[in-house]
Amino acid sequence: MKILGIETSCDETAAAVVADGARILSNKIASQVEIHARYGGIVPEVASRQHILAIIPIIKQALAEANVSWGDINGIAATIGPGLAGSLLVGVNVAKAIALARKLPITGVNHLEGHIYANWLNGRRVHFPLVCLIVSGGHSDLVLMKGHGDYVMLGRTRDDAAGEAFDKAARILGLGYPGGPAIEQAAKKGNASVPLPRAWLKGSGDFSFSGVKTALLRLVEAEKIALSASQGSQLPTRDDAAASFQEAVVEVLVTKTITAAKERRVKQILLAGGVASNGLLRRRLTESSPIPTLVPEPILCTDNAAMIAACGYYRFQAGKVDSLELDVVPTLKADYASGEKPSKD
Ligand code: KG4
Ligand code: ZN
Repeated sequence: MKILGIETSCDETAAAVVADGARILSNKIASQVEIHARYGGIVPEVASRQHILAIIPIIKQALAEANVSWGDINGIAATIGPGLAGSLLVGVNVAKAIALARKLPITGVNHLEGHIYANWLNGRRVHFPLVCLIVSGGHSDLVLMKGHGDYVMLGRTRDDAAGEAFDKAARILGLGYPGGPAIEQAAKKGNASVPLPRAWLKGSGDFSFSGVKTALLRLVEAEKIALSASQGSQLPTRDDAAASFQEAVVEVLVTKTITAAKERRVKQILLAGGVASNGLLRRRLTESSPIPTLVPEPILCTDNAAMIAACGYYRFQAGKVDSLELDVVPTLKADYASGEKPSKD
């Protein structure tokens, strides 16, 4: 079964063709990152206009690269939320138009659930029950997954999401946008020598990253970090601060994920979302977890449509076909099942 996946929730226009929820036949992404970098962050109006320009060419490229025609496609999966309303609308309306014209079934996918399904791509073996840490620009969620589409929320961020914290820390340090990759690059040249706090929120699966971000800001304001060469060689450098920040965030994410996985006696740990492309997080989790751990390759961690197609495949398998009334849900909550209630634990 070949699914066309469409993803336009934020600043990437993406289309992919995936066979049987696992085999990637094509995975095309038109990134707007350079356009938004000029503004230091995503400008929603600019994003939706770019999606309109890019969506049809990117779908055509996805079909061509997969070497398939419309007759080979068995269904369409499109992200309905969470995300920017104007961006989501482009993908969902194109998906509905194609579904109508080609008489294809359509299913709406929760973007965060899509991130989780990146772990099924490239034929990897996933075993339930599992704990998944989803760390993206807008979310830091710890989820127990007992089967396809069966989720129990174990924790979420109480303030900044992990990716958001990386982006804000990069801005504080003058490292530019997008912040996650910038911090990771700078950290490679520094030592994690700056003491920064960790919010453990003991007894809870929740996260909090605003404290570590504010602590970093206070140090910069007090000129205790050398952001310019003239500030003297005794102070920790920008690279040291980046390494320390990354260390603090990764330590909390890894420790809390492993604790939750042990408590729930799961068979596997999965990592997902843009922050999962961070090398230190990937390494630390795989090295320190006593439970087998899966991490998608970096290009499948950041926003893409292959993960949406994979998730769509399992939704179709479960009979979750949507009507052409399908609409965007920009504030879709992280119960991961597009409006269905998570099962009670
Ligand atoms: O999943 P994603 O591509 O988009 C959302 O759904 O939000 O995640 C984007 C987030 C951004 O905050 C970005 O800074 C962060 O993921 N990110 C990283 C890295 N690459 C992307 N954070 C840390 N290290 C990275 N290498
Ligand atoms: Zn995402």
